[in-house]
Amino acid sequence: MTSQIDTLLDETRRFPPPEQFAAQANATEATYQAAAKDREAFWATEAAQLDWIEPWHTVLEWNLPHAKWFVGGKLNVSSNCLDRHVSGGRADKAAIIWEGEPGDTRTLSYAELSQEVNRCANALRGLGVGKGDRVAIYLPMIPEAAIAMLACARIGAVHSVVFGGFSAESLRDRINDAEAVAVITADGGNRRGQVVPLKKFADKALEDTPSVRHVLVVSRIGEAADTVMQPGRDHWWHEIVDAASTEATPEPMDAEDLLFILYTSGTTGKPKGIVHTTGGYLTQVTTTSKYVFDLKDDDVFWCSADIGWVTGHSYVVYGPLANGATVVMYEGSPDWPDRDRFWALCAKHGVTVFYTAPTAIRTFMKWGPEFPDRHDLSQLRLLGTVGEPINPEAWMWYHQHIGHGRCPIVDTWWQTETGGIMITPLPGVTTTKPGSATVPFPGISAELVDTDGTPIESGGGYLTITDPWPGMLRTIYRDDDRYRETYWSRFPGRYFAGDGAKLDDDGYWWILGRVDDVLNVSGHRIGTMEVESALVDHPAVAEAAVVGKTHDIKGQAVAAFVTLKGDRDGSEDLVKELKQHVTEKIGAIARPEDIIFTADLPKTRSGKIMRRLLRDIAEGRALGDTTTLADPNVVNMLIEKHEAAEG
Ligand code: WT7
Repeated sequence: MTSQIDTLLDETRRFPPPEQFAAQANATEATYQAAAKDREAFWATEAAQLDWIEPWHTVLEWNLPHAKWFVGGKLNVSSNCLDRHVSGGRADKAAIIWEGEPGDTRTLSYAELSQEVNRCANALRGLGVGKGDRVAIYLPMIPEAAIAMLACARIGAVHSVVFGGFSAESLRDRINDAEAVAVITADGGNRRGQVVPLKKFADKALEDTPSVRHVLVVSRIGEAADTVMQPGRDHWWHEIVDAASTEATPEPMDAEDLLFILYTSGTTGKPKGIVHTTGGYLTQVTTTSKYVFDLKDDDVFWCSADIGWVTGHSYVVYGPLANGATVVMYEGSPDWPDRDRFWALCAKHGVTVFYTAPTAIRTFMKWGPEFPDRHDLSQLRLLGTVGEPINPEAWMWYHQHIGHGRCPIVDTWWQTETGGIMITPLPGVTTTKPGSATVPFPGISAELVDTDGTPIESGGGYLTITDPWPGMLRTIYRDDDRYRETYWSRFPGRYFAGDGAKLDDDGYWWILGRVDDVLNVSGHRIGTMEVESALVDHPAVAEAAVVGKTHDIKGQAVAAFVTLKGDRDGSEDLVKELKQHVTEKIGAIARPEDIIFTADLPKTRSGKIMRRLLRDIAEGRALGDTTTLADPNVVNMLIEKHEAAEG
């Protein structure tokens, strides 16, 4: 993506906010000014709009690298997302409009959602799950996913949502790292007309998860899923949740009590359990939903992310619901049963704000404008993107063919670790430039630094955050050393995001992408080490090196260089087998696009694999410096192999 951005970035193309939009926007110039004057006061004013059971005594306690926000305050996230709307005039308003892939639908009003959450909370309490217990959630995009998350929040249990596309092994490792006491799953989900047998995957994971006492199973598929229930351990949702009472007292949570853990890939083989707490996180996602997505009472907000990712946590569930908005949830894929599905959904439900990933926009662009063109998208008033840099052509296409020139586009930069949006335009206020995430959100301080950590005003460098922010991760679950090391050691005193970026002369941010051994495939983070571990786990593989290569739609794709044990040959069948092996170990998102067999990997004389060279080879680029290579012949051979593989 980097080179694409470099050649296409056009700092002169500007889109000032449409006047009509600006006249009614939640954000104004004053929003920036208030935060610039006093960041802590800005966040405190926003936090004060939530319902607190007990007020905080200190806004921020900063003990680098540990932050505590709204210290002494007590609140409950589910009460803020539900009860106050039910009693505040939104009882009959739709909270969730859901559509299943086969076309079944369900709308839950705030009153109904609140009752379902309470039932689920009571069922969990009945199974002995309580405050501080970890609960793994492994569900498709069905209302029960949001219900389960909110039910955990209600009783103070810490949820760890595992994306339904992850394998049994990935699920097992996450359950074990968090020592979850319960798992909430479904008999299956629908994906492109096929059933994804989640309970079967969960059962495989559960063979080796000693901490799990109970499994709650949603029947999404029914008989056809042929589900085997283990007596004593497994319980049907429709039996125990549906029978539970619709009243459940919310657990008063300390502002710094854990709300959730979410695992994300890093530069080692082991995913990191990112820890988010209650008060600061809710404040940031509520505030950003209000100003970035401009949420108002009559908005229908569709964030197309799966709840397995942080985007789904913050902008399908917590942020919009805390604002009392209506959210759309969709179970399936954009091309099922046809390429009209997303636009048909927008028209049918009157979606006003739509938030998706650049990879999706590039896919729509490839399919052509005839699909959105035959649907009434006149209700749309704001568009957003997240997950990776958006190339200016995709931005322009989105602007013209989905937004019809009238919708501002918010390109939002943030991470699992940041909890909420960090760098973004404020619609109605900030002039946008296609491809730039523009400027930090009010109350967020970002700085670009060079390799030595010296701040730079313009040009290229590393993106760092200089002050704590409410939604920041508090640590890595049970690994505070890794927390310090990963985020706070490279540039002492600063949070290092792992991204390279550029600042232009207007002080606008252009995110260039990861500078570490982490890939961004379709907006999802994949650690190269994780894929390498999965490959060397296969009996035929001796050594593996994984790099990213530019991909038109996905942004990046996984390319693997593999050496085999003994005198095994790299056949087409083995390529298939290895791809399948990675899918089984991690999940389909990590499946390599290319596998290149080689007798040797290019290494320095000290034995370090030269990934930079492998990236050059995978991209078919001219090679960088090769003088430190132990054996220069290896590279020539690899280039030949790569060319042969590309055909
Ligand atoms: C990484 C974080 C947070 C939502 C989804 C991804 C990249 C995210 C943008 C953007 C350019 C972006 C960064 C970041 N990224 N948003 N608007 N422009 N790059 O969450 O899996 O934690 O990944 O996604 O590289 O570090 P994540």
